Amino acid sequence: MIFAFAFFHMQNHKFTKMALLFLTFLCLITSSRAAILNRIGINYGRLGNNLPSPAKSIELLQSMNAGRVKLYDADHEILHLLSGKNIEVAITVANDEISAIASNQHLADQWVYEHVLAHYPSTKIRFVLVGNEVLSSTNTVQDMQIAKDLVPAMRRIKNTIKSQGIRNIKVGTPLAMDMMGTTFPPSNGSFKPEMRELMIPLLKYLNGTRSFFFVDVYPYFAWAESRANNQTGIDLGFALLRSGNMTYTDPQSGLVYTDLLDQMLDSVVYAMAKLGYDDVMLAIAETGWPHEGDSDEFGANKENAAEYNNNLIKKMSATPSNGTPARPGAVIPTFIFSMYDENQKYGPATERHWGLMNPDGSAVYAVNITGKVNPSD
Ligand SMILES: *[C@@H]1O[C@H](CO)[C@@H](O)[C@H](O)[C@H]1NC(C)=O
Ligand SMILES: *[C@@H]1O[C@H](CO)[C@@H](O)[C@H](O)[C@H]1NC(C)=O
Ligand SMILES: *[C@@H]1O[C@H](CO)[C@@H](O)[C@H](O)[C@H]1NC(C)=O
Ligand SMILES: *[C@@H]1O[C@H](CO)[C@@H](O)[C@H](O)[C@H]1NC(C)=O
Ligand SMILES: *[C@@H]1O[C@H](CO)[C@@H](O)[C@H](O)[C@H]1NC(C)=O
Repeated sequence: MIFAFAFFHMQNHKFTKMALLFLTFLCLITSSRAAILNRIGINYGRLGNNLPSPAKSIELLQSMNAGRVKLYDADHEILHLLSGKNIEVAITVANDEISAIASNQHLADQWVYEHVLAHYPSTKIRFVLVGNEVLSSTNTVQDMQIAKDLVPAMRRIKNTIKSQGIRNIKVGTPLAMDMMGTTFPPSNGSFKPEMRELMIPLLKYLNGTRSFFFVDVYPYFAWAESRANNQTGIDLGFALLRSGNMTYTDPQSGLVYTDLLDQMLDSVVYAMAKLGYDDVMLAIAETGWPHEGDSDEFGANKENAAEYNNNLIKKMSATPSNGTPARPGAVIPTFIFSMYDENQKYGPATERHWGLMNPDGSAVYAVNITGKVNPSD
């Protein structure tokens, strides 16, 4: 994940402190005919040497009532274990597979046969994500080539899927907020100028296939950055999606914001609109809050992580959907980062502490994925 360097200035801060909600697990048994609307997804990253087995992990996802899971690969064993489960699945083409697939339809066919058709439809694969944060690294010649090959690779993967008559799998690619040049006010959102050339074909492709623009969006990083720069930066409650009294009115659009996540999402909406794409749908590929960090990483604790994730779940699983101020009512598929702490990640301590679950399968803190059931769906 990548820091969102953005400076958010608040106005009209007034809010009453809300008691933290400590919610316990809810294991909702859904009937076979009932589907979960606005399913909450969970990222299942596996860069840890102490993690439960895939079989145990799938059981855990079910007991948590997760509606979707996102994999950073397309692991055969995990996809097999997800067979027959009421969990929608997002799988990922590795960054280093992109250029070969872009240049050769046969390789795209092979990838789709091996990782999609071998498991679909009994495993509910619904998203194929091509690469991860591909546009965040464009420093080397090779990285730049992968960035240029991204849309051609997506197109080839989609061609194969379409040629099989499959219509309920979307092809996308998760991007980090470092693609943004401006995020504030939201109506002033724009991509970095150097991203334009790569962004236009991607938006054209996503719009043309009615797919989602997947973003990794972390209010935590924006808040931590604002706090590091200025003690009176973004209010913590605003970043934690605390519903309260605090609002920010965008002076240009007149839209009223009640949390930082909406501001960040709408900055992307406005950035896309500036390039002529007004209605490409958004999805959140990653969001979350670290429950532990180094001594100088403020705000990374269990209380904040529990509050953010429980507020997020309530917000994103509401029916009808809340959307954002610029997109009222829009459904935004959302994947929480992450299932587990991943102890083999580098960097500051927060990088290794995003997990909802301990290695023994107990909860790091209480989360309540409610999964509202709509029998008519
Ligand atoms: C900190 O942020 C506040 C509110 O945006 C602003 O008024 C103030 O000038 C900033 N201070 C510094 C040192 O940047
Ligand atoms: C979980 O959230 C739902 C909806 O907000 C609520 O009805 C339910 O009581 C909660 N369950 C627990 C165990 O807190
Ligand atoms: C909008 O962003 C640009 C930089 O991209 C900045 O120069 C301008 O001042 C911003 N406008 C507002 C109203 O903040
Ligand atoms: C986006 O897709 C819609 C529906 O297919 C189409 O009408 C519109 O022209 C497209 N927008 C752009 C900028 O290509
Ligand atoms: C907002 O705060 C004011 C004063 O602190 C309070 O009187 C009012 O009821 C609050 N409104 C909401 C919607 O919480």
